[in-house]
Amino acid sequence: MDRHLKTLLDELAAFGAAHDGDPANHTGRLLNITPATGEFLALLAKATGARRILEIGTSNGYSTLWLADAVADVGGAVTTIELAQTKIEMARANFARAGLDTRITLLEGDAGTMLESLFDASFDLIFLDAQRSAYPDWWPDIRRVLRRGGLLVVDNATSHAEEMAGFTAAVRADRAFTASLVPVGKGEFLAVKA
Ligand SMILES: C[S@@+](CC[C@H](N)C(=O)[O-])C[C@H]1O[C@@H](n2cnc3c(N)ncnc32)[C@H](O)[C@@H]1O
Repeated sequence: MDRHLKTLLDELAAFGAAHDGDPANHTGRLLNITPATGEFLALLAKATGARRILEIGTSNGYSTLWLADAVADVGGAVTTIELAQTKIEMARANFARAGLDTRITLLEGDAGTMLESLFDASFDLIFLDAQRSAYPDWWPDIRRVLRRGGLLVVDNATSHAEEMAGFTAAVRADRAFTASLVPVGKGEFLAVKA
């Protein structure tokens, strides 16, 4: 990673922590992944040779930047979905600051609706970090748009284990998937499609 991006990611991590720590921002919290999770996502993207990444839950683009930088060497790209307008504007500004905007497509709207319009098997890696209560409803489309051999990564698997229980159980019950829980950051649930 180049020094400019590292500086920006450090700045965004500090900004996110200060922003979310202010009670005045409670309803608009950015809820960024931890820096260790960013490193882990980058490692997963590179290790799997992912070129086409889908992220659900952009916020201000902190995790998106980790992913977009990770696929830059192989000419990859990230599609990311967000519905909150304020966050969309922050994310677009951060993508431009990082010089990674040409590698990122930001879809504005509800992820459930957006997922329906995405092609079968069109992503190598999907990072899910949005509205946890909707994951079971989104699962058929998430499963459909992930290619065979593709990797699903879901944040908050330990921080919100109970909320995620129904979803993770459904994925584990699917014979096409092999899953594992990795205790990095807020807990990453990984599932690879056979
Ligand atoms: C935990 S934050 C994402 C943090 C981001 N991945 C990061 O690490 O920087 C979850 C985001 O999902 C968005 N979101 C929630 N429900 C959504 C939905 N149905 N469709 C699209 N985005 C949604 C929220 O507005 C919020 O910005």
